[in-house]
Amino acid sequence: MDRLVIQGGHKLNGHIPISGAKNSALKLMVACLLTDQPITLTNMPSLADTRFLAQLLETLGVEVYWPRGESTCHLNAAELKSTIAPYDQVRKMRASFNVLGPLIARSGHATVSLPGGCAIGARPVDLHLQALAAMGADLKVEQGYVKAAAIHGLKGAHINFSMPSVGATEHAMLTATLAEGTTVLENAAREPEIEDLAVCLNSMGADISGAGTSVIRIKGVESLKGTNHPVMPDRIEAGTYAIAAAAAGGDVTLDGCPVEALGALISKLREAGVTVDADEAAHTLRIRRNGTHLKAVNLSTQPHPGFPTDLQAQFMALMAIADGTSVIRETIFENRFMHAPELSRLGADITVRGQEAIVKGVKHLTAAPVMATDLRASVSLVIAGLAAEGETVVNRIYHLDRGFERLEEKLTACGAHIERRSGEEE
Ligand code: EPZ
Repeated sequence: MDRLVIQGGHKLNGHIPISGAKNSALKLMVACLLTDQPITLTNMPSLADTRFLAQLLETLGVEVYWPRGESTCHLNAAELKSTIAPYDQVRKMRASFNVLGPLIARSGHATVSLPGGCAIGARPVDLHLQALAAMGADLKVEQGYVKAAAIHGLKGAHINFSMPSVGATEHAMLTATLAEGTTVLENAAREPEIEDLAVCLNSMGADISGAGTSVIRIKGVESLKGTNHPVMPDRIEAGTYAIAAAAAGGDVTLDGCPVEALGALISKLREAGVTVDADEAAHTLRIRRNGTHLKAVNLSTQPHPGFPTDLQAQFMALMAIADGTSVIRETIFENRFMHAPELSRLGADITVRGQEAIVKGVKHLTAAPVMATDLRASVSLVIAGLAAEGETVVNRIYHLDRGFERLEEKLTACGAHIERRSGEEE
């Protein structure tokens, strides 16, 4: 099992290029199921998760051409040979569940495993199923699988989500493109990845308006065609490096950065005393902290445009070395503080009380072996390791490989001392 060994205490200086967004790429890949023509995705992040989804698509009959090391992925679902998504492939990567609606739209039926819970919470899929049922899909849950059919085809529907869910909004939007009539999604999630998906679907001939707002209208069309679409840059990867630079100190510019999608983080960084120069037109974000102390700030995770839950763990690592006490509230997932005890192993002073973590800033973190528990938790430990004194070993970094492309390379280029080693855990 690989681990990362970090010699902390080195400032970060230089440029970091931002990769394509994992959470956008995964849904864009699924869109290929809606057409028998080829789609080409550029700026694709080569990650364990995107590669894994490519394998599931191949199981369904999609021809995938995506050589290692390349950022262009060709997907051709001219003919599907299966409409079954097995447990092993959905359990390991929840976004796989989103093939259900597109398979029904394309083939009239599908059998897709329920994903089950995960490390950050129960994460039910009731909103996904309600949306598909409203569009006329007949759904049965048997032996852990959703068996779905739409004998009379899918029909447009008015769906009012009880809470904004990124996955359910995307799933409903994908499915509704080929339903008969108009679908209206109310209380839809507003994450930028949803807009990216709508742009891609519209370029395939779909008729979607309002993506990025809480009301999305989709007029169903007879068929969709192939397209060529660039994956948007990853706002969570960008936010992570911004926080890393703030924690380690130095002067880092993020290139190809989706600045407009990072408003909530930028204001929190500035509140914490970090100098941030945001240039939307140039797509750059420059983060500077040289000698100034960090100030503790409170935050609460919220659906976009609020502070993203996917940056909560990283910001907690930053607050661990700020002057004062910060209260971090997690409102999206019920179990997303697994990094807190690991950060404490590095000397952080964190008390978790229900949905809140109370972080009392300490002067220095000190190196220790720690263990990654999920993707964003892992990278928060890397950030803490960069700021800590001494050698930190982050074990179980396969989580990191799910969502961060060339992490060591990007950080090393800015002066970090970070190295991947294989073998026994330390
Ligand atoms: C997406 O997950 C992201 N994953 C997550 O990123 C991200 O944390 C999350 O959105 C919130 O921004 C992908 O895009 C692949 P939700 P998703 O549906 O779609 C509840 C990462 O680290 N809910 O918006 O699963 C749910 O349990 C990952 O990259 C229901 O109750 O998130 C949660 O509490 C982790 N019923 C809340 O809604 C449902 O049917 C928000 O979840 C669906 C969701």
